[in-house]
Amino acid sequence: MSHYRVGILTSGGDCPGLNAVLWAAATSATTLGWEMLGFCDGYEGLLCPVRYRLLDQQNTNGIMALGGTIIGTTNKGRFVAKVGAGDVARIPDEIISETKETLEGLGVSALICIGGDGSLSTAQQLFEAGIPVVGVPKTIDNDLSATAVTFGFNSAVACVSDALDRLHTTAVSHRRVMVVEVMGRHTGWIALHGGLAGGANMILLPEVPFSYDKVVDFINKHFDNGARAAIVVVAEGAFPKDGGIVSKASGHPGEVKMGGIGNQVADYIGKHTQHETRCVVLGHLQRGGPPTTLDRILGMRFGVGAIKLIQEKKFGHMVSYQNYEIGSVPIPEAVGQLKRVEPTSQMLEAARTIGISFGD
Ligand code: F6P
Repeated sequence: MSHYRVGILTSGGDCPGLNAVLWAAATSATTLGWEMLGFCDGYEGLLCPVRYRLLDQQNTNGIMALGGTIIGTTNKGRFVAKVGAGDVARIPDEIISETKETLEGLGVSALICIGGDGSLSTAQQLFEAGIPVVGVPKTIDNDLSATAVTFGFNSAVACVSDALDRLHTTAVSHRRVMVVEVMGRHTGWIALHGGLAGGANMILLPEVPFSYDKVVDFINKHFDNGARAAIVVVAEGAFPKDGGIVSKASGHPGEVKMGGIGNQVADYIGKHTQHETRCVVLGHLQRGGPPTTLDRILGMRFGVGAIKLIQEKKFGHMVSYQNYEIGSVPIPEAVGQLKRVEPTSQMLEAARTIGISFGD
């Protein structure tokens, strides 16, 4: 396979480790004598005005340590295939035809799509339309099934844990409750791991609907037992047993923007206990900045894995990571259902054993 041209793109929300994938894929391609085109701003770069840049071993040298993605990304635009958890919208035929024309015109024989649930659903539709596609899973939320972990997750957890360390010292000084809202639309992986690593006393997850009465009881008992501070981590998708998720319309059809539950929980605690309460929303801090060492290595391995899938002509497959090994799965297996925190898992049991409350 010499004089071979492949395309690569990053789609959906950015996340630390994307540049490690680009570097490793470009370097592997250069080593094989292939050319790599990095399409800009996600799938949008495939449509008029077509935008791409050549990526090779030389010009990607050193990008591994950078957050974000050097070729840009978007979670909007003409390709958006997921309109909510589990709902798939079809990409219009004319968009698929234009994509094919772009790839044929540029002599691109295979396309690497790096993305989360929605972006991989798009990749699957392109594959079904006859485009040779391979996928690389990406999400800080770590909610893709068929892969034990995705790069970006560890960096987000490190950000949460660092924030909790900082908030703890100020909370203890003032005898306060600190409510920290973290990312995680439908799953609580970041809240759970970040909360555990940062010494949270209570963690509220989308998978474990909470009761406000239990939250208040716990906070009161916690201080009655002599604590000087309480740290409550709330995933943005967490919700009370008798209520729904807190969100607002984003201005884009079908898209819901999460956020607000942290402030609601903080208000409730503030009003129903004697304890002064503050809320911090970590937001995009969790997605920014350099990747952790673990995410750099995982990104590097995924990039190499994607090129290997192309060599093996395993189109329609996505790189995956299980039991410390890189493998692959058909893309629909990865996007069919979300990987959620299991409420009866060993991890939650261990957390409960050491007195962490899930508000249930
Ligand atoms: O899916 C990743 C994620 O970080 C979610 O946890 C969060 O709700 C969303 O992206 C935020 O997206 P945006 O960048 O559009 O605000």
